[in-house]
Amino acid sequence: LKDRQPIVAIDGPAGAGKSTVARKVAESLGLIYLDTGAMYRAVTWLVLETGIKTDDEPAIAELVSQCDLKLTNSQVLIDGHDVTSQIRSWEVTDRVSAIAALPSVRRFLVEIQHQMGQKGGLVAEGRDIGTNVFPDAEIKIFLTASIQERARRRQQDLISQGQTEVSLSELELAIEKRDRQDSTRSLAPLLKADDAIEIDTDKLTVEEVIAQIVGLYRKNQEYR
Ligand code: DC
Repeated sequence: LKDRQPIVAIDGPAGAGKSTVARKVAESLGLIYLDTGAMYRAVTWLVLETGIKTDDEPAIAELVSQCDLKLTNSQVLIDGHDVTSQIRSWEVTDRVSAIAALPSVRRFLVEIQHQMGQKGGLVAEGRDIGTNVFPDAEIKIFLTASIQERARRRQQDLISQGQTEVSLSELELAIEKRDRQDSTRSLAPLLKADDAIEIDTDKLTVEEVIAQIVGLYRKNQEYR
């Protein structure tokens, strides 16, 4: 028997609905929600803010090893700045894949993720959670959706934030580019773990996806 609480790992490409689903699954099971993408985004924000070139790995490694990153269920703070909303900007989104491919950045952030997951009891969401960060997670989900559907959801998000000028085709291209970068990098690429359950969310509501994962979690707990 493990001496920690169970871990739910949710991986998948950009825009498959991981954040919404992971947050609500954590809420309904009383677990901690860990958004690892937000960590890569916060570091990217800091790199842009300090004006370091995004290909200057030694300088980025130095910056990252000294930064103070704090995550709560609803806020992201880096070096005292509340960057919860800034990390969702177009600039950060456009650069984050390149920063997330740097070994020194991954090493540093995965170490924090391991610390946060030491006692278990969390729903962690990202690209390499089931394969690399928590390979012994009790529940592994690989969430997918078609590019068209993911672009449509992203556009709805942007419209609800008052940004109406981004077209669907632009969003599809941006999502395709990020998928390619996240899936083809050499270190911990986006990959479905062999023992992950794939859920295609194209024709499912958010509630249906949450119910499936909560159901899988409960079933797993029964057989412990
Ligand atoms: O899930 P997101 O869109 O907030 O993630 C932002 C970027 O961070 C994504 O393009 C790839 C990277 N990422 C990663 O490399 N590994 C993770 N575990 C989570 C995110």
